[in-house]
Amino acid sequence: MRIIKADHYDQMSRIAANHIAAQIILKPDSVLGLATGSSPIGAYQHLISMYQAGDLDFSNVTSINLDEYKGLSPKDDQSYRYFMNTHLFDHININKAKTYVPDGLEADPQKACKDYDKIIENCGGIDLQLLGLGNNGHIGFNEPADAYAKGVHCVDLTQSTIEANSRFFDSFDKVPKQAYTMGIGSIMQAKKILVIVSGGAKAGILKEAFFGPITPKVPASVLQLHNDVTVIADQEAAALLDQ
Ligand code: GLP
Repeated sequence: MRIIKADHYDQMSRIAANHIAAQIILKPDSVLGLATGSSPIGAYQHLISMYQAGDLDFSNVTSINLDEYKGLSPKDDQSYRYFMNTHLFDHININKAKTYVPDGLEADPQKACKDYDKIIENCGGIDLQLLGLGNNGHIGFNEPADAYAKGVHCVDLTQSTIEANSRFFDSFDKVPKQAYTMGIGSIMQAKKILVIVSGGAKAGILKEAFFGPITPKVPASVLQLHNDVTVIADQEAAALLDQ
């Protein structure tokens, strides 16, 4: 595992964007595993700037997002499909037909999960998986549990995740309580993993995830077993790593 310490959020974002850009330049038909949340927004902005400067071509890239809220339509401005369109896809030359996000409107969880597992399989594996880190150590929406879930599954979000996500919604009642997420198995099969972590609130969980015991109670801790993980943390998030 490599840990890169950035001075601040923008530097973290720039470094992350450079890693993603390098992946696309070296393999123009890369399959990127993408994430939502506040952490990747800056990296997406840098990727858009590189595209606008003519330095990056997304036309052969495929993307597979980690997760989606169950029950939200792609048109809902809180859905992760909407997030990806507005923060990245609408501003680059990616073929939208090759950008995948779980179908939040599929009411049958078994079908939704099977369909998305098939999509991941058909893409031939993820070259680079971008991850944020949830306050409780979740990755994608793999919440702390007694065991790791392998494939795509439907999750009951924990109270702490619902509370953390409520900052994006008008009211607490509107925050979805369930989501479809890629499993730990799918994430761990990615060839490279890039984790971005920002802010003092994540300092404790960052240390626990990468230097504590490997346990499904801290889902991100499983990344210690992956052989190509790069963590990019800003100064505040990295504050406890030297202790
Ligand atoms: C959500 C997403 C995760 C993300 C996490 C952290 O739960 N499902 O993929 O990593 O939030 O978000 P943030 O980057 O806003 O802290």
